[in-house]
Amino acid sequence: MTDSALTEQSPSDPVAAGPEGDLPVVLEATGLTKHFPVRRTGRAALTGPRRSIQAVDDVSLTLQRGRVTALVGESGSGKSTVARLLAGLYPRTGGDIRLHGETVNVKRGKAFRAYARRVQMIFQDPFASLNPVHTVRYHLTRALKIHGRAGEDLEKSLRELLSRVQLTPPERYIDKFPHELSGGQRQRVAIARALGADPEALLADEPVSMLDVSIRLGVLNLLRDLKERLHLAILYITHDIASARYFADDTMVMYAGRMVEGGDSETITQRPAHPYTRLLIESAPDPDRITAAPDPTVDNRHFHVKVAAPGVDNRHFHVKVADSGGEPPSLIEPPAGCRFHPRCPVAMERCTTELPPRFDVGDAPGHWAACWLYDGAAR
Ligand SMILES: Nc1ncnc2c1ncn2[C@@H]1O[C@H](COP(=O)(O)OP(=O)(O)OP(=O)(O)O)[C@@H](O)[C@H]1O
Ligand SMILES: [Mg+2]
Repeated sequence: MTDSALTEQSPSDPVAAGPEGDLPVVLEATGLTKHFPVRRTGRAALTGPRRSIQAVDDVSLTLQRGRVTALVGESGSGKSTVARLLAGLYPRTGGDIRLHGETVNVKRGKAFRAYARRVQMIFQDPFASLNPVHTVRYHLTRALKIHGRAGEDLEKSLRELLSRVQLTPPERYIDKFPHELSGGQRQRVAIARALGADPEALLADEPVSMLDVSIRLGVLNLLRDLKERLHLAILYITHDIASARYFADDTMVMYAGRMVEGGDSETITQRPAHPYTRLLIESAPDPDRITAAPDPTVDNRHFHVKVAAPGVDNRHFHVKVADSGGEPPSLIEPPAGCRFHPRCPVAMERCTTELPPRFDVGDAPGHWAACWLYDGAAR
């Protein structure tokens, strides 16, 4: 965006009005990988093997202008690491990150600041991300100055930032300290600070999970408003797959450092294909989900996995949820083959040795799953 982030673009903007597939890609990652070395202690420091936590492995995703992409997965699946890699806060072990098609290789200094201006992060805990001894005015002024956007009329820019995050009238908030604000207001200030950089992409790492349930929706609606008015590309990280359906256009599901499924949010939440996504949804009921009324005679610890793809006999699996409990695997020695296979209720022989690539599921454009159940060649 060359004009001010605070300047709305008209609905006739050809980019904004184009079909979804045509929206320009802002940020793109391919084969993103991050291994954290494990510190060796005692005798192992001298003789033991070098080991690492394979936190993120071969992750590819694109963030499009004016579109929210949710990244969903359980704790430790690597979501924050992906966001930090995309923000340039960690060096990557492998893979490529491109901003408007140009590979990003920034470490620090001027180049990093220029990148950070365009790709901003919002963290889970707004209290921790704001300095308690400084006012809202200080935080926002500093953001505008760092990114060279303080301009001639600083007061006006500050007021516009606060209005943009619906903290109005701005005078009521501008001289407050973080502790004088509610959690939701603090997160709005953190978002205003990010907007002070005039970014093109926002990486929001669980932006509402520390807020009261009653105010979460307001903050999500604000982010949606920013997507629509400022055409920001937003990565929305969450544990809560139901909120992804409500808020995100696309949803990507991560398990143990790898992407397992992706597609438009409606399809992922209504017709999940990967057994892991099914389990996530089973364990986080969404009241709006289209399901038959529960039959009291049926043991609800069982569910059907139905694989339906064009030209294939429908395959049905009847599986026990109870069988598939358990913990996520060690990321130091992740399971061979599909990382989910030890917990997977429908694991096949090949899942234990062969890593599944992405297969088209075939029920909606762009819906894929990294699962051998969808291997067209084997059918
Ligand atoms: N700086 C680090 N050094 C070593 N290991 C790390 C580091 N950061 C993350 N990890 C490890 O990488 C894995 C992925 O962590 P990450 O924080 O990305 O997960 P997450 O999906 O964001 O989890 P949560 O939902 O709990 O926030 C975890 O096993 C974690 O312990
Ligand atoms: Mg995290």
